[in-house]
Amino acid sequence: MRFPSASLVALLCAFPLALPAQRAKTGAEVYATCTACHMPTGLGLAGAFPPLAGSEWVTGRVEVPIALVLHGMQGEVTVKGAKYNGVMTPWGAMFSDQEVANVVTYIRSQWGNKASAATAADVAKVRAATKARSTPFTAAEVKKLYP
Ligand code: HEC
Repeated sequence: MRFPSASLVALLCAFPLALPAQRAKTGAEVYATCTACHMPTGLGLAGAFPPLAGSEWVTGRVEVPIALVLHGMQGEVTVKGAKYNGVMTPWGAMFSDQEVANVVTYIRSQWGNKASAATAADVAKVRAATKARSTPFTAAEVKKLYP
């Protein structure tokens, strides 16, 4: 018996080549990773997950949300006057510069937020400047780095 047949093997090998070139996920697609905590509404969950809608951490200097998405966040933080003290794991290894830019642009322009877009070049800069980090940012650390 000839199994798997040569033509079947050839077909399976050729299959990935027939798929479209990998494209960057859109901001909305990347944001699907964030909704479990920050919710599709961007409102978070009182006492547990801070809101992105109307958050000064999202709409201030573009480097801040980029740094937080790349490396995560931990420790006490005040968002829209309410205190949180949790941990967000880093996302920098999971998404490309373009994808991080897309999700940061997304959260800066949804739910009434009106802040400037992030570019892949912005993300590359923050990645390079923070590449020595191995722990999530505290609020104080990210503010010191990008006042
Ligand atoms: C498992 C839950 C969880 C997921 C998933 C998650 N976060 Fe967070 N995020 C948190 C928590 C908790 C904090 C606050 C950490 C602290 O208390 O210091 C936070 C903080 C933030 C902040 C700064 C505070 C604020 O509310 O503005 C931003 C910006 C942010 N997250 C963006 C994102 C983005 C974008 C994604 C998806 C790529 C994401 N998060 C996914 C839990 C999560």
